[in-house]
Amino acid sequence: QAFFKPIQQTAPPSPTKRHTKVSVVGVGNVGMAIAQTILTQDLVDELALVDVNADKLRGEMLDLQHAAAFLPRTKIHASVDYAITAGSDLCIVTAGARQIAGESRLNLLQRNVSLFSRIVPPLAKYSPDSILLIVSNPVDILTYAAWKLSGFPSNRVIGSGTNLDSSRFRFLIADHLDVNAQDVQAYIVGEHGDSSVALWSSISVGGVPVLSFLEKQQIAYEKETLENIHKAVIDGAYEVISLKGYTSWAIGYSVASLARSILRNQRRIHPVSVLAKGFYGIEGGDVFLSLPAQLGRGGILGVTNVHLTDEEAQRLRDSAKTILEVQNQLGL
Ligand code: NAI
Ligand code: LAC
Repeated sequence: QAFFKPIQQTAPPSPTKRHTKVSVVGVGNVGMAIAQTILTQDLVDELALVDVNADKLRGEMLDLQHAAAFLPRTKIHASVDYAITAGSDLCIVTAGARQIAGESRLNLLQRNVSLFSRIVPPLAKYSPDSILLIVSNPVDILTYAAWKLSGFPSNRVIGSGTNLDSSRFRFLIADHLDVNAQDVQAYIVGEHGDSSVALWSSISVGGVPVLSFLEKQQIAYEKETLENIHKAVIDGAYEVISLKGYTSWAIGYSVASLARSILRNQRRIHPVSVLAKGFYGIEGGDVFLSLPAQLGRGGILGVTNVHLTDEEAQRLRDSAKTILEVQNQLGL
C-alpha cells in the first residue's frame, strides 16, 4: 500500500522561480507573530501585509522595517488594497474575530465566514497560482470556505489545523517522559478544537512506540494519564486565552514551520487541515480536518496512510460529523 495517498495535484511552479513572496492578511496578534517568525527564519524575499485597520497596518509595517539592521534584506510593505498581494506564492489568512475567555472556536464562525467572502476572492484574483494557508478560526470550516470561495484545487488550500495542537501534545508527552519534544513523533488529528483526536497508537519517542517505551522504562501509566494529556491539549488554548487574552507565539512558530515546508519544498509531514472526504471512512460531505499530510511547493502532496485503531478512526469520523453539522448551515 502506498505510503502516501495522492490527492488532487497541480504542477508545482517552475523550480527556476527564485523570488519568494508571502502575504499575511490580518496584522493582529497572530498575523504579526507569524510575520515576525517568517522574517526571523529568512523564509521570504517579500512580505506583504493586509488589514482593514490602516493605522495599525502602517504601524506594524514600519515597526518591522525598523528591524532591517537585524534581519536578512526583505521587502516589507502593506496596504488595505489587495493589489499589494499580487504574485504571492503563499497567502496566510489570520483576519477575523478571536475567542474571548471560555468561548469555543466554532462560535466565531458567522463573524469570520462573512469576512472571508471579502478576503478570499481578491487573494485568488491577484495570486491565482498561490497556496492559501488559513489560520482564522474555526480554521477547518474556514479552510473549506476558502476552498469554495477561491475555486483553487484542494491541494492548494490548507488549514493550519492541528499542527499547533500536535506541538502542544508533543510538549506535554516530552515533559512527562523527560525527553526533547523534537524526538517525540505524535499527532493530534481531526478538528482543531474540542473534538480533536489523539493518535496514541502511533506515538513514538526516538523511534520507539511510546506505549512499549513506557513499558520498557517501567513508567507506570494508565489510559487516564494519556487521556489527561489529550485533555490538557484541548484546554491549552482556553487557559492561555483566559490568562493573556489570546494565543500567538505557538501559532506563529507553527505556521512558520508550515511555510518553510511549503516554500522550501521540504516534503515534510504535518497534521494540517485537508479535504478529508474519502479518507478513513469519512463521508457525508466535503469536510476539511487535520490528517498527517506531506507538504511541499505544490501544497498538499499526499495524505499519509497512518495506522488508526478502530476507536481512533471512529473518533475521527465523529470529529468530521461535528464539523459538517456546523458547516452545512453555511450554505456555501
Ligand atoms: P486580532 O484581533 O489580534 O487580529 C485580527 C486582525 O484581523 C485585526 O488586525 C483586524 O483588523 C483584522 N481584520 C478584521 N477584519 C478584517 C478583514 N475583513 N480583512 C482584513 N483584516 C481584517 O486577533 P488574533 O489574536 O490575531 O486572532 C486572529 C484569528 O486567528 C482569530 O480567528 C483566532 O481565533 C485565530 N487563531 C487561530 C489559531 C489556530 O491554531 N488556527 C491560533 C490562534 C488564533
Ligand atoms: C489556539 C486557538 C486560539 O489553539 O485556536 O491557540
